[in-house]
Amino acid sequence: MLYYGGTDQQSEDIYIQSWIWQGGEGLESKNQKVLDEILESHNYDQTAVIAIMQDIQKVYRYLPEEMLCYIAKKLHLSEAKVYGVATFYENFSLEPKGKYVIKICDGTACHVRQSTEILTEIRSLLGVTEAKPTTEDMMFTVETVSCLGACGLAPVCTVNDVVYPAMNQEKARALIQKLKEGAGTREEAADEN
Ligand code: FES
Repeated sequence: MLYYGGTDQQSEDIYIQSWIWQGGEGLESKNQKVLDEILESHNYDQTAVIAIMQDIQKVYRYLPEEMLCYIAKKLHLSEAKVYGVATFYENFSLEPKGKYVIKICDGTACHVRQSTEILTEIRSLLGVTEAKPTTEDMMFTVETVSCLGACGLAPVCTVNDVVYPAMNQEKARALIQKLKEGAGTREEAADEN
């Protein structure tokens, strides 16, 4: 991200400062309680910052900025450091995600078995795009991944980390329909496999 014609590093510094400023306020007490419990379960250990973020993301499906500021303070880490960790790992998201996170594998094994058609079908059914991957009602987020580690089952997609093997467009349509009708919990999504 480039600002004001500066260098990439300058731009990144400005972006981090902006992020820190925006995230300094607004943590609700109920959320603070959840964070305190997560931090407590890791003994406020700085070296567990990744595991702490994973636990936060499990609860909220992304890492809200104000929560990163809060854990930085509690772990005695700089906000820039915590932000750096959150942006380094692609499994972490700073953007809110839908209730059902659908990942379509576009690794080689899946790609040669028409994963692109499945992706196009699902995006079309949900009215999302690469630039706008989450539906307005926050029910679905559609993402691509490079390999889900299940190449023998290609083409593969996952819904909230539950694997759906040997997909095709017809199965994709049925899956989306089922999720829309069920519209239940993330655990129910897992049970549906
Ligand atoms: S390439 Fe899709 S699971 Fe490996």
